[in-house]
Amino acid sequence: MDLAGKNIVLGLTGGIACYKAAEFTRAMIKAGASVQVVMTSAAMHFITPVTMQGLSGKPVFTDQWDARIGNNMPHIDLTRDADVIVIAPCSADFISKLAHGACDDLLSTLCVARPATVPLLVAPAMNVEMWQNPATQRNLAQLLADDIQLLGPDAGEQACGEVGMGRMLEANQLLEEVIASFQPKLLKGKRLLLTAGPTFEPIDPVRGITNLSSGKMGYAVARAAYEAGAEVTLVSGPTALAAPYGVRRIGVQTAQQMHDIVMAQLAGADSRTDVFVAVAAVADWRVANASAQKLKKNADGSAPELVFEQNPDILATVAALPKPPYCVGFAAESENLLQYGEVKRIRKNVPLLVGNIGHDTFGKDDNQLVLFDADGHTSLPRAGKQQLARQLIAAIASRLT
Ligand code: C5P
Repeated sequence: MDLAGKNIVLGLTGGIACYKAAEFTRAMIKAGASVQVVMTSAAMHFITPVTMQGLSGKPVFTDQWDARIGNNMPHIDLTRDADVIVIAPCSADFISKLAHGACDDLLSTLCVARPATVPLLVAPAMNVEMWQNPATQRNLAQLLADDIQLLGPDAGEQACGEVGMGRMLEANQLLEEVIASFQPKLLKGKRLLLTAGPTFEPIDPVRGITNLSSGKMGYAVARAAYEAGAEVTLVSGPTALAAPYGVRRIGVQTAQQMHDIVMAQLAGADSRTDVFVAVAAVADWRVANASAQKLKKNADGSAPELVFEQNPDILATVAALPKPPYCVGFAAESENLLQYGEVKRIRKNVPLLVGNIGHDTFGKDDNQLVLFDADGHTSLPRAGKQQLARQLIAAIASRLT
């Protein structure tokens, strides 16, 4: 319930992406928010107030002169206990109105009349030519200068058949952005590199050795870092998870590939990485005699002989660099966490190590963590992985100099 107790004013303007606003409303309600919908007359060409009322559970406001509000001032009263205003979809026309402070309908007036403390987020949705038009770009620059936050847009196929920038984000991405807007920007301006998920070490072209890591904890840390304002690159082994919105994901299969990508990221031309978090459950060994062809059963019933060799330790390699980023390791133990955690932190030579009981957490949505640093250890009690990831990001941010 990431939006529990939040009052959100959702404005809809004219655009085919209004259909996504229905799903977005449901998603915010499911996340615990209370949603007050306001629609422009153009929006009502695309979706009805009946649908939006049904989904939000509240009467929809469309008219500046709506007398249902006691003082007949919906442009004031609707935002006075709002935590955020989100315009999704936000048309080129409405962006122009916001840039100029127009007040010619309820939604535009309400935006101008919002208290300075209420953030305004807008999710542009328009044809690619409209997006690229210099007038639109000028207006967008003005919005950014006025501290109005843009959510997307994305590039891709458009309803008109053309392809390019201007697609509104999907409902789940908008939800992630709204949730992110409430998180403190503890890592603003920082770059964070992470590993997550299992690795897969081939035996032959169709078989391999892997482990039960789902990637959920690493992905939660990546998302929490993005929410905190960091630029995040996630190097991920094979998982079934979607990349968190705003996070750059590079997919890999083997430990060696994960190592090579991580080192390339750290060595790149504009490679300032502030924090490296190794969450991946990296296979300790790979099969040295992996077969190029699928192994066949032997007629005599004997099993194939696999020869193992050790994989590079990515975390230890990064920590041993002449100027390492702030390194955070994870330890999945099956027992004696307090004892093994501290030993592992020193062996890996990292300032912060996060311990958990591996078989207790793999694949699950919750976890409990112990943070080990030079001063001792701190326990983060059982909670959802996203919540723990936010606590971990706060702990990392507080340790950066
Ligand atoms: O040595 P162990 O595998 O228990 O250490 C776990 C920590 O080291 C995790 O942070 C994991 O991501 C990292 N690791 C790594 N490369 C390896 C093995 C582990 O980065 N080859």
